[in-house]
Amino acid sequence: MPRNDAPDGTAGSERNQRKGRAHDVFPSSRARHLDSRLRWILYRPDRLADRYIKPGDKILDFGCGPGFFTREFAKNTGETGTVIAVDLQEEMLSLLMKNLEPEGLMPRIVTHQCKPDSLGLSPEWDGRIDVAFAIFVVHEVPDASKLFREISSLLVPRGLLFIAEPPFVVSGKEFRSTVEKAMDAGLAKVEDRLYFLNRAALLRKP
Ligand SMILES: C[S@@+](CC[C@H](N)C(=O)[O-])C[C@H]1O[C@@H](n2cnc3c(N)ncnc32)[C@H](O)[C@@H]1O
Repeated sequence: MPRNDAPDGTAGSERNQRKGRAHDVFPSSRARHLDSRLRWILYRPDRLADRYIKPGDKILDFGCGPGFFTREFAKNTGETGTVIAVDLQEEMLSLLMKNLEPEGLMPRIVTHQCKPDSLGLSPEWDGRIDVAFAIFVVHEVPDASKLFREISSLLVPRGLLFIAEPPFVVSGKEFRSTVEKAMDAGLAKVEDRLYFLNRAALLRKP
């Protein structure tokens, strides 16, 4: 196990954090740790979906991994909504499809493999996303400011961005800096919250 591993399986890098660089990318070889019963009990992704997602919504799940949160988001959007599941690693998107296909959820999901420094969704999605989630991923992104600018363009007016980061990997100072970058991209902070033990914030496009 890497030295900085957190209980939820998230890996970090103290050296990169000190130098202000992105942390290591969570390897797809460890994806099963992201879809565990323990995580379900701790994070209750169904309650997170109930809080923010209504039928027909268009949702962005940025850094979706093998689909632990995507699954519940897609249940809540219903057949009239869409979840855009974005990840850097093709293997994560393959696992997501393998996991969610048997549940009949794939018709509600669009998968997209992005580049490390660019979300790169088609402009047809500009101004159409109701809620964007970036859960346990922003610390792995090399240019968070650029990511937030892209997300801001994708959101509808009054659209929401929910960010969560693991406290064992991301310090309070680093998280505050992350939220400031999102605000610099034109989003207004609605609230800071704790998401189980994790640092989280909700932002809104004006
Ligand atoms: C710790 S996992 C979290 C996965 C999921 N959000 C969850 O909590 O179950 C981080 C995920 O973000 C993805 N990721 C890392 N850097 C990324 C980037 N620059 N763009 C998109 N995805 C990225 C990784 O491939 C990995 O699937």
